[in-house]
Order: sequence, then structure tokens, then C-alpha cells
Amino acid sequence: MYGGHRETAEMRTNRHLILIGFMGCGKSSVSAALAKRLNRRLVDTDARIEAEQGCSVSRIFEEHGEAFFRELERGLLARLGAETEPLIISAGGGLAAQPQNTEPLRALGTVIYLRVQPQTALARLAGDTTRPLLQGKDKEEKIRALLAAREPLYMAAADICIDTDAFTPKELAEQIIARCR
Ligand code: S3P
Repeated sequence: MYGGHRETAEMRTNRHLILIGFMGCGKSSVSAALAKRLNRRLVDTDARIEAEQGCSVSRIFEEHGEAFFRELERGLLARLGAETEPLIISAGGGLAAQPQNTEPLRALGTVIYLRVQPQTALARLAGDTTRPLLQGKDKEEKIRALLAAREPLYMAAADICIDTDAFTPKELAEQIIARCR
């Protein structure tokens, strides 16, 4: 029993629960709620890469470029496959949007796409300075274009798709658990 609830057999055999989706979709807060609720360890790919590299994602983009960051993500993805303990994994917004990551992601466990509308992402990210892909002019246009290009890739990687705009992280964690049954 975990926090008064039983984890389902399917969730155990499916190993990791992986949250994917666009910047601002709520991956961090929902994965934290899920980790608490299921008493599982949380791995946030951005945080892990920052800890391993000893610098921020923005700095990695600035000094080495996006392609290098994507290599780091790919390397981490491969290592997560070797983790035997079932984890909650929060994947950086671009990770599931790289076609070569689709199969490795799906092999890790159950992939949950947290879908967000562009206007919600924009409202949440309006003052953000930490996402290198959204800096500069016309954030709204950048969000719309990137999200439209990525949507099919998120869908291709996902076992489950959940619309997040109208729900709290706790509600979304419960929806995920119910959908995994
Ligand atoms: C990115 C999303 C970010 C981070 C990096 C690139 C993207 O993660 O990995 O800035 O390409 O969408 P979050 O989705 O956690 O903001």
C-alpha cells in the first residue's frame, strides 16, 4: 500500500511512469504530486542534467548549443532504462519531440502526454527567462509554432494523453493513476 492506496499490478509491470509535454504543461508539479502519491522516486531530466553538468540548461545551450543538450538527454534516457526501481520521470519538453527518442521512451514504461493549450503555456511562461527556446521577441508565436510541430511527436510517444489546462496538479495525478488502471 502506498499512501493508503494500492498501486495497480499494471503500473508495477509497466515500470516507470514518464511525463512528457510542452514547456509549461505542468510536468514538474504533476510529477511531484505523483511521486508523493505513489511513494516513488522522481527523476527530472533537466535537473539531473544540470546536476551532472554542474550548470544550468540555459548555460548548456549558450555554451555548447542545443544539439549537445539533446545528446545529453539521449544519454540519460539510455541510462534510465537500466534503473530497476520504478520511477516517476519528468522529461524536459523537447525530449519526446526528438523522433529518435520515441522508441527508447516507450520502452521505459507508461508514457503520459500532458497536453496544454498555447495560451495556457504562454500565460505560465510569460515572465520566464530560463527556457532558451522561448527567449527574444514574440514568445506567443514561438510557442504556437513549436507546439504545433511537436504535437504529432508527443502523440506518437504517448500511451495516454491528458488535457491539463483546467486541472490542478493533484487532480491530474489522480487522473493519471485512474487512467493507468
Ligand atoms: C525544452 C524544455 C525545457 C528544457 C530546455 C528545452 C524544450 O524543459 O529541457 O529548455 O525543448 O522544450 P521544460 O519542459 O521542463 O521546461
